[in-house]
Amino acid sequence: MVDRVLITGGLGYIGSHTVVEMMEAGYEVVIIDSLANSQLEVLDNIADIVGEKVDFMQLNLCDESALNDFFNFPMAENISAVIHFAAYKNVGESVANPLKYYDNNLNSLINTLAAMNRHAIPNLVYSSSCSVYGNPDTIPVTEASPLQAAESPYANTKKIGEEIIQNSIKGQDMCAISLRYFNPIGAHPSNAIGECSTEFTDNLMPALTATVRGGQSQFSIYGDDYDTPDGTCVRDYIDVTDIAKAHVKAISRLVGREDKQGYEVFNLGTGKGVSVMEMIKMVEKVSGVDLPYIVKPRREGDVEAVYADPGLANKKLGWKSERSLEEMVATAWAWSGVLERKNDWH
Ligand SMILES: NC(=O)c1ccc[n+]([C@@H]2O[C@H](COP(=O)([O-])OP(=O)(O)OC[C@H]3O[C@@H](n4cnc5c(N)ncnc54)[C@H](O)[C@@H]3O)[C@@H](O)[C@H]2O)c1
Repeated sequence: MVDRVLITGGLGYIGSHTVVEMMEAGYEVVIIDSLANSQLEVLDNIADIVGEKVDFMQLNLCDESALNDFFNFPMAENISAVIHFAAYKNVGESVANPLKYYDNNLNSLINTLAAMNRHAIPNLVYSSSCSVYGNPDTIPVTEASPLQAAESPYANTKKIGEEIIQNSIKGQDMCAISLRYFNPIGAHPSNAIGECSTEFTDNLMPALTATVRGGQSQFSIYGDDYDTPDGTCVRDYIDVTDIAKAHVKAISRLVGREDKQGYEVFNLGTGKGVSVMEMIKMVEKVSGVDLPYIVKPRREGDVEAVYADPGLANKKLGWKSERSLEEMVATAWAWSGVLERKNDWH
């Protein structure tokens, strides 16, 4: 029997790409999303890629009774795994409004875990983040690197989320994988889906492409006095489709397990650190346009340098990032053209 997988936050940036990869790998998918940071049209855009409409229910996972009702619908029958993307992700906003983040990111997870328990759904893949490593003492970071104090309430929700999962599946017939994403960028090569936050995003790539296309007058570099080769922050940028494919591998690893117990963590990165300044140069190369920028003071919550050792995911998940930085930036650039045509800057 084909496994049926519930994807929460499946109309969001990484969720939508994962829905596509899961369907192309032969899984059945049902999506829950509140549309807090996504749009219904993404459902049609996914259908344009995969050739069929995906089951979808709009609900806020913090609403426990709405989630209970969902399980009365035929689309919720025979779900054997959950990929939990649903969360708020804006670091700056989380610093300004921590309770909004603790409330949404933790309660949605708790309700999802409780529902899995009630309905005997044994497999969970959780969206975690490299932000759980805080400002790491040594790079690259491995899964064994110590977790540091979170640099923002957002990062803390990811760290606490992992702990909630680890604690709550103990003694249950459940197994889980937390995937710690480094910095997802890029868009689907079809140009049908990409990152289109309905709220302002403080992620680097949309801000860069928006600047080149004129949505913002100049790009802000937050700090050029870090202890990095060019003074700007260093991150591990990874293609969103590569990230999505790792979820297919993780689900296949979980559903294939005989014993429904255990918790694993994998880093999803390329293993290469790229600075903000290097990203500016790459965007200029791909777009052919000079990018106006201004250097501002360091921003609260930003980590100096972090990139992954993805060796464990390479070995155990049989997954490896495939796309180069130039390829990722090229799809992100193409996608920003789609947003520009829709006049949809945020
Ligand atoms: N994008 C990144 O840079 C990044 C990096 C590391 C980890 N993550 C994590 O990956 C996951 C997906 O990120 P994304 O970039 O696709 O974000 P996104 O905002 O594009 O997608 C999240 C989706 O979840 C939905 N959602 C939020 N709260 C909900 C709730 N209570 N009930 C139902 N739906 C809800 C939103 O409407 C949105 O469609 C998040 O958990 C995020 O923290 C993202």
